[in-house]
Amino acid sequence: MTNHKELSLNEKDKKFFFHPFTALKAHEQTGSKFIVKAKGSTLFDLEGNSYLDAMAGLWCVNIGYGNEEMADAMSEQVKSLNYYHSFSAMSTDVAAELAEKLISMSPVPMAKVFYGNSGSDANDTNAKILWFYNNALGRPNKKKIIARYRGYHGVTVLSAGLTGLKNLHEGFDLLLPMIRHTRAPHRLWEKEVGTTDADFSQSLADDLESLILAEGPETVAAFIAEPLQAAGGVIIPPAEYFPAIQKVLKKYDVLLIADEVVTGFGRLGVNFGTTAFSMEPDLITLAKGITSAYVPLSASLVSEKIWRVLVDGSEKYGAFGHGYTYSSHPLAARAALTNLHIIERDGLVNQAGVRGEFMQRRLREEFANHPLVGEVRGSGLIGAVEFVSAKSPMVAFDPSDKVGARITRRSMELGVITRALPAADTIAFSPPFIVTEAEIETMVTVTRQAADEIAVELGRM
Ligand SMILES: Cc1ncc(COP(=O)(O)O)c(C=O)c1O
Repeated sequence: MTNHKELSLNEKDKKFFFHPFTALKAHEQTGSKFIVKAKGSTLFDLEGNSYLDAMAGLWCVNIGYGNEEMADAMSEQVKSLNYYHSFSAMSTDVAAELAEKLISMSPVPMAKVFYGNSGSDANDTNAKILWFYNNALGRPNKKKIIARYRGYHGVTVLSAGLTGLKNLHEGFDLLLPMIRHTRAPHRLWEKEVGTTDADFSQSLADDLESLILAEGPETVAAFIAEPLQAAGGVIIPPAEYFPAIQKVLKKYDVLLIADEVVTGFGRLGVNFGTTAFSMEPDLITLAKGITSAYVPLSASLVSEKIWRVLVDGSEKYGAFGHGYTYSSHPLAARAALTNLHIIERDGLVNQAGVRGEFMQRRLREEFANHPLVGEVRGSGLIGAVEFVSAKSPMVAFDPSDKVGARITRRSMELGVITRALPAADTIAFSPPFIVTEAEIETMVTVTRQAADEIAVELGRM
């Protein structure tokens, strides 16, 4: 065995740690920033510098960092029952309690909860449920899933294919053959100038209908959509969008999966994006905010209509052959129950809405007329600023200019962590629900300073 004690932490990281979503060559040279402590909305690095986390980690630490009630509940759970599985009809008290809680909270009537460990694996689960469902109904060809460009649904083999971002496909031999993509409701780039939101929504629904007809409705099982597309650019659909889309889905018996991994549990100032955008899903994907990321957990909510068919299918195919060692891990279930209790008791969904309104207003005040900004958009406590090289007509920056990444890098040097999204020069804001107005003020003014400095570098200010 080799002893690496003499290596510094950063050397160990550079040498041995294969980081996700990281430029591998650059990491080999520069290594990482180490976050070693966190409280509320603030992170601390190894050198003792502090950062305001305007992204709640990866859109997930909704109740904030270092919550002692969570720590106590999780510690108690480990002492009483650290693990047991749920295969072959075994169960735990916390997993059953959480299932009841999720079904009672669901934005549309749902029947059952299937547990996983990540948003990605929950979307894989949803696809397998759909395939089993259509096999049980004797429709073996009805298996395709339509997703949207700029949608983000995860990185496992199937979910990465559903994700409509090229960098998740190239180099990995994706997508799988049963996946198709259609246009996103992105007004900035997709909507013709002068058309109404209703016309725009109808044109997207018409596109979807053409795609379903071209594929053959008998081959299309489902359409998957985030209520608002988070990682793809914080893209807010018009109010008319989902009603128009759902008309098409119903016409061809195509089911709807609502991917609520970011929007679920309050980020929009209401419990679920499904309600905010009038969605009527048959399956709902949950993760992230379900435990505020204190420990991994995901869930698929399954409608009664699907469930009854699965039960009949299980008579034909035997036990439902899917599940993870850590499906319904008791520590995760306890963390989720405690997290949901804290959110309800402390009125954090309402608070996210109130702080969200303040954040949206301040983002618009600082950025709407900025020389580099094409659009400021958002809903509740999730927002984005998109930078463009020209405004009329709108022209995107050359990706090699890395404008978004340069602004977020400079913001981090100034003490605020935001996120440059992969599809364009968009930076996102998604702070914890417990963020204060003063912290939002810091977040907005520091990012503005960073954007100004990059505008000067580009000769645009
Ligand atoms: C909408 C959505 N779905 C699925 C996922 C994948 O979740 P995970 O990273 O937990 O696999 C994400 C992650 O950001 C997401 O934003």
